Formats: sequence, structure tokens, C-alpha cells
Amino acid sequence: MSARNRVNKAPRHFLDLDRIDAAELRNILGHAVAFKSGRDRTKPLTDKILAMVFEKPSTRTRLSFEVAMKQLGGDVVTLTAADSQISRGETTADTARVLSRYVDGIMIRTDSPAKLEELAQNATVPVINGLTDSSHPCQVMADVMTLEERKGPAKGKIVAWSGDGNNVLVSWIHAAARFGFELRAACPAKLAPPESVVNWARAEGAKITLTTDPAAAVAGADCVVTDTWVSMGAKDREERHAMLRPFRVDEALMAHAKRGAIFLHCLPAKRGEEVSAAVIDGPHSAVWDEAENRMHVQKGILAWCLG
Ligand code: CP
Ligand code: NVA
Repeated sequence: MSARNRVNKAPRHFLDLDRIDAAELRNILGHAVAFKSGRDRTKPLTDKILAMVFEKPSTRTRLSFEVAMKQLGGDVVTLTAADSQISRGETTADTARVLSRYVDGIMIRTDSPAKLEELAQNATVPVINGLTDSSHPCQVMADVMTLEERKGPAKGKIVAWSGDGNNVLVSWIHAAARFGFELRAACPAKLAPPESVVNWARAEGAKITLTTDPAAAVAGADCVVTDTWVSMGAKDREERHAMLRPFRVDEALMAHAKRGAIFLHCLPAKRGEEVSAAVIDGPHSAVWDEAENRMHVQKGILAWCLG
């Protein structure tokens, strides 16, 4: 389809899990499972091109989107801020308008959610959130897929977070409302997730508990999750380490979880900081399946947006 013919169709963006209803998200996961199992061998994105825009580094997001596009029959072009006009101040809106004339969809990893919004407002093709400082929805779709593979339906499960109240936790809170699991988050008071996100989820009927006690959060959990203490762009490294040390996921903390509980981490991980080597490399860990599932779930997302 030429760019001009597309202009009048409202694009189907994948921006955040609170902006897509539960049935659609369930549908995306269903497709992801079918792609992974080989039950669906179709190539719904034949001849489609995805532009990937990176204003921050990435290993998994970049490679899993690229492989997903290629396996679904399409291809990618990659733009990094440093070697494009973005670094010289070309606006996000103008970048969106230009890219929309070349490609069938845009995945962006950026710092500010306002930029993601500006891109989506001005693009005439679907925009996918590949992480901002405020959320990481593709990651948490893969995490829910991994939870369900290991433990069965997410509904009614208990997921515990111990660590920074960061972008990944925000998407987990959105997911709790969308997939019906209980979420217990232990974070230092100064690093708690945004109140507006927690209030939104509770208003949607989600069971969300906030605490500063990791053992209380993890007690009886089916799944324990953490993430780096210092996200990309965060500056207060020493202060964060001091606040977050008591939230490390080690074997003693995992012992409070349900027998057979899984451990998830979006990666990259720092062994000895947010997680002990014994946990991430031990029997509870599902982190390699979780990383693999980025690719399968993003096939579901890409097919939903661009198919
Ligand atoms: N988990 C994740 O998004 O990894 P990358 O930063 O390597 O893309
Ligand atoms: N919270 C981390 C996730 C990295 C995939 C960050 O934003 O750096």
C-alpha cells in the first residue's frame, strides 16, 4: 500500500497496556503462542517494513523486533538518534511525518513518553512503544506470556516485585488490571511507582499492594520480578544503590515465595546487585524463556498493528 493511500486510515498503535482493552491483549497473546508453537506459520507481514528508532541502547528489543519482522515476511530499517537528524533537533512530529511516507510501522525507544505521544499523534502508520522512561509494554506482554507458560492462566496468580518502581513496574501494574492477577510491589518509599498509575489500576478493579517490605510482598507469590537499580538515563547511582540494597532478590527472599515460583527479570541484569547469581542462574529463573518470548509476543503485536 502506498503511503498516500494509508493517510486516512486511523493507525492501530501499541503505546501502553492501559490504552488497549483486555480482549485485544489476550488476542495478541494468543497469536504469540500460535507463532511460537508453529501452529501459525503464516507470514502476515510480507513486504512490510518497520522503522526502529533508538534514542537509547538495546540488545533484546532491537534483535527480537528485527527477527520477528523477518520471520513474518517483512524487514526493518534502524535509525539511532546519534547518527540521524534527531540529534540535531529535527522535531519528533516531523520525523513521524517523514517516516510514515517510507515505512508501514514505527517502533521507538525513547526517554520521554511525551515524545512517544508526539510520534503517535503525527504518524500515519502504527507506532509501537519499545520503552520510555515511563513504561515498557512489549516487555511485560512477554513476561505475562512466560508466566502463563510456566504457571497457567495469569488470572488469580500473585506477582511480586521487589526493587525500583520504574518503567517496567508501571507496565506490570497496567497488566495486573488487564490480565486479572494480583500485584504486590515492594519499593523504597522514594522510588514508589506513580500514584496515578496505581490509582488507575485499582479503579479498574486490580488488586495492587504497595509495601516497603520485600518479604511481605513475596510471601506466597507465584512469580517474583525485579529489574536494574539504575535504569538507562538515571543519574543518582550511589543513592539508588543505598536505597535498593534491602530489595535484592536472593535465595532468602525467594524462600518466601510459593514452592515452584518463577523468577523474571527483563534483562540486562547485574548479578550481585538487584539479583543474586544463585537466583538468576538457579532453578526458579525463567529469564531466558522470557527473553525469547519478546520475539514471539512482538510477532503478535506486529501482526495486530500492521497485519
Ligand atoms: N529488556 C530489554 O528491553 O532489553 P534491551 O534493553 O536489550 O532491549
Ligand atoms: N528499567 C530498565 C529496563 C531496561 C530494559 C531501563 O529503563 O533501563
